[in-house]
Amino acid sequence: MSTEETLVEAALRILNTADPVEKARIGDQVANKWLQGLISQPYNPSQDLPVPDRPARLTNDIIARFGKQESMPREFFTDFVKVAQDEGRHFSLLNARLKELGSFYGALPAHDGLWDSAIATSKDLLARLAIEHCVHEARGLDVVPTTISRFRNGGDNQTAELLENVVYPEEITHCAAGVKWFKYLCLRSRNPILSDLPLEENSDTVEVDNEVIQKFHSTVRTYFRGPLKPPFNEQARKAAGFGPQWYEPLAVKDYSVE
Ligand SMILES: [Fe+2]
Repeated sequence: MSTEETLVEAALRILNTADPVEKARIGDQVANKWLQGLISQPYNPSQDLPVPDRPARLTNDIIARFGKQESMPREFFTDFVKVAQDEGRHFSLLNARLKELGSFYGALPAHDGLWDSAIATSKDLLARLAIEHCVHEARGLDVVPTTISRFRNGGDNQTAELLENVVYPEEITHCAAGVKWFKYLCLRSRNPILSDLPLEENSDTVEVDNEVIQKFHSTVRTYFRGPLKPPFNEQARKAAGFGPQWYEPLAVKDYSVE
């Protein structure tokens, strides 16, 4: 048997690295190895490795926790390797920007909401995809344009451009990964044979119907407390592959626009 590190082992090594700069560096290295085929195995089928409940941070958890457990296809690993690599890059870029401005990562307190949701959804991949990627990351898409204007109005074009040209477009792809694999799991539960086909072929042949959207609504209502907050960035959400019928029914009425 090969002694080569699997993607899941590498993901755990990243999860267990506490220093955020080092984590981003190893994350980028592992992502490149996977994308170049230098790591060939997603996981070792005969090995069940413990996934830490509260490691230093997010994203590679989905690979280590659900990849083998749910027998996900190779494309799933690749999509979330890219998400993790993007997030590591965002961290490195923003951390460098903070330093240029005379501050540092950790200077101000930050909330831990994403990780709370990761723990709440640690037993259910559908919920993980819906809550992290289609609720929280989609919310990010709603608010980032305002954040960009704030930096621009404050005279910090450099940060505004970093958010606009790097973070924002890449976050759309993260949300898209959530939508894509949520649909995949729904379709696979209906017809297990589909799991052997590339996802694109499934999507072309099977209309994403009310059943998938209903499942999304019930999943969000179970795992996310309270309604979603409008206004929504319809354009960015559409680019990520989900229309208003997915999220409008989960929203509170927005009195501020009346
Ligand atoms: Fe993201």
